[in-house]
Amino acid sequence: MSALTVTFVEEDGTVKTLSGETGQSLMQVGKDAGVEGILADCAGSCACATCHVYVDDDWYTAVGAPDAVEAEMLDMVADVRKDNSRLSCQIKLTAALDGLKVTVAPLG
Ligand code: FES
Repeated sequence: MSALTVTFVEEDGTVKTLSGETGQSLMQVGKDAGVEGILADCAGSCACATCHVYVDDDWYTAVGAPDAVEAEMLDMVADVRKDNSRLSCQIKLTAALDGLKVTVAPLG
């Protein structure tokens, strides 16, 4: 594991730049730091969508699109879903994602 940095922008515009480790999920880093809006009710099982984020345009290609199961869960928050929506529990941090920036989506 090696250290990296990720940035969350909360719904009110508060910016939190946090340290994480490769191998962690983005959700885990945000939840551990108490990022507002990262509730992670299902603890990362891709079953609640309370870890929904919008990936910054500059990072979307590196992060990639959701798989079918995640896309189905995102459909349940369709009113706030965007093209760059991802569930942060499904984003596994790698060295290529050092500097990743996301905005926390409003809860439904
Ligand atoms: S923590 Fe529940 S879907 Fe991500």
